[in-house]
Amino acid sequence: MRAPIAVALDAPDAETAARWARAVTPHVSVVKVGLELFCRTGPSIVDSVRGGSGAELFLDLKLHDIPNTVGGAVRSVARLKPRYLTVHASGGADMVRAAVDAGEGITIAAVTVLTSMSDQVLDSVGLQGPPIDAVRRLAALAVGAGAGALVCSPQEVAAVRSEVGDGVVLITPGVRPAGSDAQDQARVATPEQALADGADLLVIGRPITGAADPGAAAARIAAALPQR
Ligand code: C5P
Repeated sequence: MRAPIAVALDAPDAETAARWARAVTPHVSVVKVGLELFCRTGPSIVDSVRGGSGAELFLDLKLHDIPNTVGGAVRSVARLKPRYLTVHASGGADMVRAAVDAGEGITIAAVTVLTSMSDQVLDSVGLQGPPIDAVRRLAALAVGAGAGALVCSPQEVAAVRSEVGDGVVLITPGVRPAGSDAQDQARVATPEQALADGADLLVIGRPITGAADPGAAAARIAAALPQR
């Protein structure tokens, strides 16, 4: 049994990512490879971080292009057998559907509104109104197009759950154990709070990978959570 945590392996190189993965996978269910590491190392990173651990892979590529191209990209990474693969919901229903259709066995996770976008930034790209309205609208659009998961901030997770109901996996970054540094995350919640509000999978990076002993940090956070 492992905790419902995806450790963000935002490492400067493949060796560091593999070392972190070896340390944390006894305690957590998922490892997350993001755009920076994937672009630097290429697909070979997947084998080195997953190894024989049995952990699932979260490929956080946040795809956003015309439906045909996104479908092709999903087919290209399907051989890596990610459990989760991210796309931007704002690419539209046809784009999300193309990803879902191309990704047999992959749970397509739609990003609604990036948590880095302030009200002013949203306004400047033409998304007027409170961010939560756009989050709800894009969540419903993505689920309607077949997305099996959504990425949202801990502050949005309860509203998103009420919008899409049960059966959709809600993934939340911005998770910080009580007393730890928020770093550049503006809206944070503790792991326990995020799960209580309806999250299914917690993305945690630096509180684990920045610790002197990442394995011990993962074990400590995991021990406080229900195992799945
Ligand atoms: O180190 P930290 O716990 O802040 O890492 C969070 C991870 O989640 C990073 O890989 C970051 O890119 C990702 N993420 C995020 N906010 C989003 C979407 C993804 O922090 N809205």
